[in-house]
Amino acid sequence: MHDSHTPQSANDVHPADDRRGFLSKVSSLGMLAGLGASYGTAGAYAARYLYPARPRARAWMYVARVADLPVGASLRYTTPGGEKVTIARQAQTGGPDDFVALSSTCPHLGCQVHWESQNQRFFCPCHNGAFDKSGKGISGPPGEAGQSLPRYPLKSEGGLLYIEAPVENLEIARAPSAPRDGHDACLDESTDGRGGLV
Ligand code: FES
Repeated sequence: MHDSHTPQSANDVHPADDRRGFLSKVSSLGMLAGLGASYGTAGAYAARYLYPARPRARAWMYVARVADLPVGASLRYTTPGGEKVTIARQAQTGGPDDFVALSSTCPHLGCQVHWESQNQRFFCPCHNGAFDKSGKGISGPPGEAGQSLPRYPLKSEGGLLYIEAPVENLEIARAPSAPRDGHDACLDESTDGRGGLV
């Protein structure tokens, strides 16, 4: 009588050997996957070094006559790339710091914010998100998440106000079916581009 745990032929494989073989294969596959991921990451860094991302092309563009925007007023501006911006006048010292230009798109879910002069804040009606004068989230979801509205540089020359904004998406922005950010029910359709007071 032979020991029931002793293999009798090449086809008689012990279950423990079978399990060891399986674990060994899994381990090898895991190592290969790890190596692949490492090389992929290294490749991405190398590509970034060899082909660094070009800075976005920007240009100064006319917005409005300074005199046409009294303290407390704001206007909605659309950049050539289709980004909506709210420009608000917050003081009357005569310099460009009287104004602030912030993205109108709420960083929470993409609704449109507006300037509330009486409360000295930008407000998003979708979920009661509020931002201070500089665009920093102070309450609602953007405040809880520490989100801010991206800011655009402004300058005034000869009584005219200019904004610096990206311009490389000019052709894409003109495409009729360019996708829009945010959920449509909350997006403001009333903006027409430049100069319209809101
Ligand atoms: S989309 Fe602005 S607070 Fe939610």
